[in-house]
Amino acid sequence: MKILVTGGCGYIGSHTILRLLEGGHDATVVDNLSNSQYESLLRVQKIAGRELVFLEADITDPVALDRVFEHNPVDAVIHFAGLKAVGESVQEPLRYYRNNVTGTLNLLESMDAHDVRTLVFSSSATVYGNNPQMPLKEGYARGATNPYGRTKQQIEEILIDLQASDPRWRMALLRYFNPVGAHPSGLIGEDPLGPPNNLFPFVSQVAVGRRDTVNVFGSDYPTPDGTGVRDYIHVMDLAAGHSAALDYLSDHQGVHTWNLGSGQGHSVLEIIRSFEKAAGRSIPYNLADRRPGDAPVSLADPSSAFRDLGWKAAETLESMCADSWRWQENNPNGYRTEAVPAVP
Ligand code: NAD
Ligand code: UFG
Repeated sequence: MKILVTGGCGYIGSHTILRLLEGGHDATVVDNLSNSQYESLLRVQKIAGRELVFLEADITDPVALDRVFEHNPVDAVIHFAGLKAVGESVQEPLRYYRNNVTGTLNLLESMDAHDVRTLVFSSSATVYGNNPQMPLKEGYARGATNPYGRTKQQIEEILIDLQASDPRWRMALLRYFNPVGAHPSGLIGEDPLGPPNNLFPFVSQVAVGRRDTVNVFGSDYPTPDGTGVRDYIHVMDLAAGHSAALDYLSDHQGVHTWNLGSGQGHSVLEIIRSFEKAAGRSIPYNLADRRPGDAPVSLADPSSAFRDLGWKAAETLESMCADSWRWQENNPNGYRTEAVPAVP
């Protein structure tokens, strides 16, 4: 198939495109490079030994999107493009709604106008809000608690309404839990611009000496060691989940929602210890206050994805840490070639 991938230069997109190319699909990538570098796709092409088409464009520009579809006929779209920082979304809600929701509306209109009605969408476990019932199942009520999460929730609703109006649409809503890790080559990985918001990139930047100490946000949660528990999912497993969802849509209409998680929980301290083993060095940390808005535990019930797609997480905490570390150690400044100064 020919697949259009929005946001394909980013972390999850680049790993998924590699999987698509290795599976014999062709990829056209649209990205505005607001949170990524084209270098990621140069490396994807190097690993795959195949070429793709890259078009620098912004999904909030409907004219540019129409041109993309007009000149690049595709069979399906995987839609990663979006802003994803929770704290920033609280400060700049309009930018988040415009980029994520308006961008998706433009994409859907262009797809419809060009008779492309198969879509895989990057949703998030954040749509479950602070629901304490663990593990989380797809049928639970949504209740996102911040503007970023509400953009995902609103987009899910838009997709459901659109499919109800025209049964030709085939849609997969993939709710990712906590994506981590990197391709085992160490050539592509997560490369956040500025201080990382998420635990894994922060821990790996401390391990490589770019930052001094990990702040552990909360040590008095009702969890075995008092620190937050999450369902970490290796990005290569996520990439396989996208490919399985695309296969499923080739013979199923309708809207299908799947959690992509491992079903296993790991605490912040477990992650730090496991990363220390992978990196062969100690990682200083400091027990700090809870981060506002954080849930004590977030865990997927991934059984629907296994039932429908035959997909389940195959990687381990050890491989998540080893692969993240290989990427970080080989690329201490991410995709940038010039050194990023260490934070004092
Ligand atoms: P990322 O920031 O690395 O990738 C997103 C890409 O989209 C970037 O390359 C960025 O430049 C591009 N982009 C953003 N706005 C755009 C626009 N208007 N037009 C064109 N391109 C645009 O993020 P990621 O971690 O790879 O996440 C991919 C998707 O998965 C996002 O939609 C995110 O919300 C979702 N998601 C991520 C996580 C996570 O923890 N990484 C968890 C759940 C869901
Ligand atoms: N944490 C720390 N120190 C840090 C960063 C995080 O202790 O420097 C802790 C958090 O308190 C939490 C755990 O590590 O207990 C994981 O935090 P992340 O920020 O890595 O991930 P979250 O679970 O908070 O959120 C992530 C994405 C969201 C997404 C959510 C559910 O960032 O966008 O998973 O998919 F919505």
